[in-house]
Amino acid sequence: MKKEILFTRDVIEKRVRELARVISHEYQERDLIVIGVLKGAFIFMADLIRSMSIPCRVDFVRLASYGAGAASTGKVLLTKDLDTSIRGKDVLIVEDIVDTGCTLSFLVNWLKERDPRTLKVCAFLDKRGRRRVSFEADYVGFTIEDGFVVGYGLDFNEMSRFFPDVWLVSEIGEGEQL
Ligand code: IMP
Repeated sequence: MKKEILFTRDVIEKRVRELARVISHEYQERDLIVIGVLKGAFIFMADLIRSMSIPCRVDFVRLASYGAGAASTGKVLLTKDLDTSIRGKDVLIVEDIVDTGCTLSFLVNWLKERDPRTLKVCAFLDKRGRRRVSFEADYVGFTIEDGFVVGYGLDFNEMSRFFPDVWLVSEIGEGEQL
């Protein structure tokens, strides 16, 4: 397996603070609810909302599309729904990465049905080269073209979410762990 750091913790921290500043400005005096997509977004979301200068509520959904491996099936399944109503609220979905776009386009359509006042998406990473459905996030931390990344919430076989930096991994051998 090959593995190299793509974004260090310092670079990530700086970028998250910038995003938080922009989002705080945009959602001043609004009734903001931040919805994290489990599990991948939990670290990014925790850092983002603590860098924001405005209050917000939080809730989570869980969507499954990948199974246990690295290859997308393209199928999206909602395995945990919201606990609270978003009717009339300003909703910001926080996701770890946009890859094929299937997960987020499904989620946005799903949540639109519940009549939020506004609905936007903030993705930590945008992997632009692999879209299968057209999807644009409103706020993006970093853009990459392709490749498999882990750390800062992102996993491979449920491992490596706890890495503080983001790593680009390739040539993963059969049964190999990170
Ligand atoms: P999409 O539906 O293809 O956009 O995939 C979204 C989900 O796939 C993300 O929320 C991640 O959980 C997972 N994913 C996509 N690319 C990567 C990656 O490079 N590393 C880890 N997980 C990924």
